[in-house]
Amino acid sequence: KKLKAVVPATTANLGAGFDTFGLALSLYNEFEVEEHDGVVIETVPENPFLEKPENNLFVQVLKYMCEKRRKTFYGAKVKQISNIPVARGLGSSATAIVAGILISAAVSKTELTDELFFETAYRFEPHPDNLLPAWKGGFTTALLSEGKTYYQKIPFPEDIKAVVAVPDFELSTEKARSVLPEKIPLKDGIFNVQRASLFLTALINRRYDLLKIAMEDRFHQPYRKKLIPGFDDVLKEAYNGGALGVSLSGAGPSVVALSVENHQEIGERMVYAFRRNGVQSSFMVLDVDT
Ligand code: HSE
Repeated sequence: KKLKAVVPATTANLGAGFDTFGLALSLYNEFEVEEHDGVVIETVPENPFLEKPENNLFVQVLKYMCEKRRKTFYGAKVKQISNIPVARGLGSSATAIVAGILISAAVSKTELTDELFFETAYRFEPHPDNLLPAWKGGFTTALLSEGKTYYQKIPFPEDIKAVVAVPDFELSTEKARSVLPEKIPLKDGIFNVQRASLFLTALINRRYDLLKIAMEDRFHQPYRKKLIPGFDDVLKEAYNGGALGVSLSGAGPSVVALSVENHQEIGERMVYAFRRNGVQSSFMVLDVDT
């Protein structure tokens, strides 16, 4: 019997909501599994690295969940269709983790509780701001306190699309976190709390005119932008093209612009701004996955 999980890309942070906000986008990785003796992995597009079981996060999650139930993992025949670019701040690893958990729970007829989900997922990646929207869809807020994850999902306006500019270089989350300071001045803490709160309330009240100021950030973008040539320029061009709010997508290097209109122009302007700064990129216009 074949089982399949289709899991969306996600953009974390959305400016001021560092390690908190996440949004699922209409771009998907697909994972198909059949019972099999030994592990066989087929990847589309072909990716020899991911076809090795030890490098394949999805297979590692299947194996872990199996062993957690004190069962031997005999193998699996896997087909993995990847549409989400890797190491670009679009949550591609979260898709493999979420798919592995969903399929393992289905196979073993185990109820997928929040506790089981997070306990498993955090073994592989500690970021609920990607994991949650990948699992639940839509827009989520999350926090982790003393081992427990608290989260909420709220409706995200359907008329807003995400224009995502994806540079042609990879940036690991580890590298992008290594440039962050240990301490943040109180005024920057206040700056971000005010903006994150404004972001949520502006979404609820559909005050799209407030998203620009609400997506400003002093926690991570000012430090990470030195790893992303042209970042400020790309933001400026996206706003010139009519974007409502623009931020670094997750740990980067992709940049996401929210907009109700002018998607094509915004994308072209972002790509042009990256090119002016010596970075090749391409853009996608994505709906929110609800
Ligand atoms: N909030 C995390 C970060 C997301 O920006 O580092 C990592 O995928």
